[in-house]
Amino acid sequence: MLFKSLAALAAILPSTFACPHESHLRKRQAANETIENPEWAYEASYNWGKLDPMYQLCQTGTQQSPIALSLNNGLSLNHIPTFHNYTGNTTGMYRNWGFGPGFALSRDDITANPSFTYDNETVYLLGWHIHAPADHSVGGDRSKAEMHFVHGDADGHEKAVLAFRLDPGNSDASFFTQLPPMIGFNETGPEYEQQIEMNLDYALQSVLHFNEFWFYRGSLTSPPCHEGIHWFVARQILFTGVEQMQAILGASTYSARAEQEVWQHRINE
Ligand SMILES: *[C@@H]1O[C@H](CO)[C@@H](O)[C@H](O)[C@H]1NC(C)=O
Ligand SMILES: *[C@@H]1O[C@H](CO)[C@@H](O)[C@H](O)[C@H]1NC(C)=O
Ligand SMILES: *[C@@H]1O[C@H](CO)[C@@H](O)[C@H](O)[C@H]1NC(C)=O
Ligand SMILES: *[C@@H]1O[C@H](CO)[C@@H](O)[C@H](O)[C@H]1NC(C)=O
Ligand SMILES: *[C@@H]1O[C@H](CO)[C@@H](O)[C@H](O)[C@H]1NC(C)=O
Ligand SMILES: [Zn+2]
Repeated sequence: MLFKSLAALAAILPSTFACPHESHLRKRQAANETIENPEWAYEASYNWGKLDPMYQLCQTGTQQSPIALSLNNGLSLNHIPTFHNYTGNTTGMYRNWGFGPGFALSRDDITANPSFTYDNETVYLLGWHIHAPADHSVGGDRSKAEMHFVHGDADGHEKAVLAFRLDPGNSDASFFTQLPPMIGFNETGPEYEQQIEMNLDYALQSVLHFNEFWFYRGSLTSPPCHEGIHWFVARQILFTGVEQMQAILGASTYSARAEQEVWQHRINE
């Protein structure tokens, strides 16, 4: 019952928000009831498949994310991304998706959003959001946080994610310097939301425009765990300043799904 009424509510909310985790954001904002009784929680991610028939893939899927990666997998020699419209400022809504900072692009004309092409397919940026700690480990090492640039097809269906591992380094990252103060999330919702302009290419520059990456076929990392998502995980780490990382972590809550067994992910194939 709860799920049905929330789904109905979600349907009437503005469509400017867009990422695999949006449904959760809506629920947390929708009613106190759901904040006290979240429909799913990261602390119980092993059990998502049993919570609702719609979440079955979380339990039975063959390409679930995240997975452990390693240089033993090699790096992807195919699926090389070519980026379009990333340079310059992009306008969007700066906010918190319920677990960490995020940014949602307008869906008025998705094909005008920054995009990238790989394997003859073009996917368009819907938004970014941060998880803490990182979803993907590499060689057994887990970064402090991970940022997802979620891309969809021209209809807005999620298709591909660019994953940036975030760790503290020696100097500030331009990507975060340009942002207003980090936005936390309290009982009533995001502390604030603000329309801003930002240069998204700064993130790509920090990881050398995905000159080296792992590619695999995976899923959303939160219910309903839909598959058919192409993951691009940058080998380079996006290093932030120490205070920048503290601000990111301060605005985040635990949001990493348990690592999934590698099955039909065809890493780098
Ligand atoms: C949510 O809970 C707070 C504190 O318990 C209360 O003040 C507020 O009115 C509630 N909001 C709704 C929409 O029920
Ligand atoms: C870049 O954005 C413009 C609109 O701002 C759009 O007309 C153009 O098709 C986009 N280019 C690509 C390659 O997506
Ligand atoms: C992309 O399109 C070209 C021309 O149609 C075709 O030769 C090539 O095999 C396609 N590549 C992929 C990865 O689908
Ligand atoms: C949550 O943040 C909003 C916006 O800053 C603020 O108005 C509200 O009082 C805060 N609620 C709590 C329970 O701290
Ligand atoms: C991009 O946005 C930033 C932050 O709003 C602003 O300071 C800067 O002038 C903008 N740059 C351009 C070229 O519009
Ligand atoms: Zn994510």
